Amino acid sequence: MIDINREIFVEDLIKYGHLNQEPDPSLDLFDEIERIKKEKNAVILAHYYQEPDIQDIADYIGDSLGLAQEAAKTEADIIVFAGVHFMAETAKILNPGKKVLLPDLKAGCSLADSAPAKEFKAFRESHPDHVIISYINCSAEVKAFSDIICTSSNAQKIIESVPKEKKIIFAPDRNLGAYLNSKTGRDMVLWNGACMVHEIFSLEKITKLKIRHPKAKFIAHPECEEAVLKIADYIGSTTGLLNYTISDDAEEYIVATETGILHQMELASPGKAFIPAPPNNNCACNDCPHMKLNTLEKLYTCMKYELPELTMDPELMIRARKPIERMLQISK
Ligand code: 13P
Ligand code: SF4
Repeated sequence: MIDINREIFVEDLIKYGHLNQEPDPSLDLFDEIERIKKEKNAVILAHYYQEPDIQDIADYIGDSLGLAQEAAKTEADIIVFAGVHFMAETAKILNPGKKVLLPDLKAGCSLADSAPAKEFKAFRESHPDHVIISYINCSAEVKAFSDIICTSSNAQKIIESVPKEKKIIFAPDRNLGAYLNSKTGRDMVLWNGACMVHEIFSLEKITKLKIRHPKAKFIAHPECEEAVLKIADYIGSTTGLLNYTISDDAEEYIVATETGILHQMELASPGKAFIPAPPNNNCACNDCPHMKLNTLEKLYTCMKYELPELTMDPELMIRARKPIERMLQISK
């Protein structure tokens, strides 16, 4: 790392969660990022909810499962994670010896925040005979208290890997948990958490939009509420939604998930139209405020100075690794 202004850097990270350095405006950030990537043997892993510029410069774009699988097999020395904190933590847990950078350390997740470790531990202890399946959108501490991790693309398979007679706790997303209960016929105990983005969609406005676009298919992420999922033509993870729009023959889609995914949908199917499902107010609340904290400028400065770096307690990483590895094993 170029060790100039070390104290200012530390102050910046505490105050802002990222380096407060404006890149030189004459630089072509795409060229610069490519150059640094090669020079440092870095890989950029990006989630579909990142802004289009970041998706365009990424080495791999995917859903939570794809990103974890990619992190598990990368040979790069530095992993630059363009996503949110729990995703970068998963990459670090799988690569304790590598440097993991996150353009903005404050990029959190409302769903992960809805399961504080202390309460979760007490909940687990009050259900000693239950298997704990936790959605990957949770902190490393919660992962360490869990038996198996899952994502929206492999959750059904993970649940079905647990013998039928075993009782299960599913955390932290109550909407995904309820959807999975209906798909698998299980009666999992659900943690009462939710994602602020996926709970914002308005059933009434979607219904009106469907009337105005009678040929459009309505597709939704399983973190949406039950009433919204009931009217969906297809439900799936971000990769599932993208693949559906590629293989399906409709020309229009109303999409109930974070708007970042529309970029890949439009690139993959330029002749089709994609309409973001409307939220229940007039704000752009179907943009995840955490995901969107990352910008191309922050990505560049973080790669240039190798900060912010994600650091974790080694003992916690060992405990959190087991349930992630179980997931990767079952998902092969
Ligand atoms: P997937 O990309 O795994 O479908 O998850 C969506 C999400 O909300 C990530 O934060
Ligand atoms: Fe978390 Fe929801 Fe944002 Fe995904 S979209 S990172 S679940 S707050």
